Amino acid sequence: MLKAVVIITLVNSVLTAPSGVNFSPINEFSFNLLQNVFAYQENFGPQNLAVSPVSVWNIFSLLSGGASGATFAELSQLLRLPKDVRVTQDLHLASNSVLKVKNKDVILNKQAAMFVERELQIHPEFCESASKYNTEIYTVDASNTTKLANDINYFICMATEGAIKDAVKPDLLENLRLLLVDAMYFKANWTTPFDSRQTKRETFYDQQGRSIGDVNMMYQKAPNKIVYAAELEADVLELTYGEDKEFAMVIFLPDYGVPLKRVLNNLSTKPTDAWTKLLQNEEQMSSVECQVPRFKISSQLDLIQPLKYMGLYSIFDEMKAELPGISDSPLYVSKTIQKTELEVTEEGTVAAVATVVGLENRILGPSINVNKPFVYAIVNRRHNIVLFTGVYTNPSVV
Ligand SMILES: *[C@@H]1O[C@H](CO)[C@@H](O)[C@H](O)[C@H]1NC(C)=O
Ligand SMILES: *[C@@H]1O[C@H](CO)[C@@H](O)[C@H](O)[C@H]1NC(C)=O
Ligand SMILES: *[C@@H]1O[C@H](CO)[C@@H](O)[C@H](O)[C@H]1NC(C)=O
Repeated sequence: MLKAVVIITLVNSVLTAPSGVNFSPINEFSFNLLQNVFAYQENFGPQNLAVSPVSVWNIFSLLSGGASGATFAELSQLLRLPKDVRVTQDLHLASNSVLKVKNKDVILNKQAAMFVERELQIHPEFCESASKYNTEIYTVDASNTTKLANDINYFICMATEGAIKDAVKPDLLENLRLLLVDAMYFKANWTTPFDSRQTKRETFYDQQGRSIGDVNMMYQKAPNKIVYAAELEADVLELTYGEDKEFAMVIFLPDYGVPLKRVLNNLSTKPTDAWTKLLQNEEQMSSVECQVPRFKISSQLDLIQPLKYMGLYSIFDEMKAELPGISDSPLYVSKTIQKTELEVTEEGTVAAVATVVGLENRILGPSINVNKPFVYAIVNRRHNIVLFTGVYTNPSVV
């Protein structure tokens, strides 16, 4: 399969406005998440990826409002939460307001919901902050996972204009008491569409220039911007959407011989300015020849492991999670999945994402799960003498 990294970035307006809100914490988190998802997925061979970090940021920043201790500290660091809680709230509200657009060229819609098991008592303050971020709150009978899955899938299907239909299966929802769902739909026409008569089957190469397959290559000669970002070791192409060009797809094409991994590392460690300034300062050339493959990516990601790579542990730990601001019943996050559908064509782009975060009851008191290799010994306790000892590393069903 071909490798491609796609980053849909909301240029200009998002990076500064509305009223001067600085979105750099969300952007830093975004490229850091992409880098870690890529590193994790690499274990399973080359794959195309699509993630929507802002959707993850929104859910976890809401959860951070109910977190304390190490759980809060890890969330603050991961999400780059500003020290002042009010600044975080403004950032969250501003991202919500930027993620709603409807004009003739661009539709962008984001919706959030919280599904609460009937018996679970959620603190009113947590419900209030959820409502403030436009989260719809539903009380449900979580024991009927078939019905719950239908309800959640219906919500996501409506929010994504039918682009994501079966986001969750009932078995994923076993034991969950609280679910946070964030769904986003984006549909936009290019400022200059590609001419489909010029789309041709062409070769796609790896970083060393070896042929690895074919794509339908689209072609256009139009006023786009390309810059070379030395700090990223990549060429940067900006393809805008709509007449007002408020949105764009930005493509980072690594230099010859430079692995994607390195560019991802540079994107996640350098300030976003490293390339946004270059694009802003670049004069728009009257015509740039662009060849971009037509592509479609469907991905379903379990984000817990990549988020652990990024330093978020305690919220996923059934013994250590500290979320007292949500409910008096101790909870931890046991599920975090994201499903994305993205299609780039001659006309434009359709992208939809659903993020589902599930919380279940924490185990109170000590517990241990012997589910990996271990050493054992049989001993006489009174005289403290070892009779047998060994290791167990090779599992079998006996
Ligand atoms: C994009 O263009 C198509 C066809 O030209 C049009 O039907 C559609 O409404 C436009 N807008 C969006 C948001 O797709
Ligand atoms: C669960 O909900 C489904 C759909 O609403 C319903 O048909 C089914 O009878 C319910 N199952 C139980 C065990 O209540
Ligand atoms: C890009 O990241 C790599 C590490 O993956 C680093 O060695 C290299 O110096 C970085 N490039 C720039 C221009 O900072």
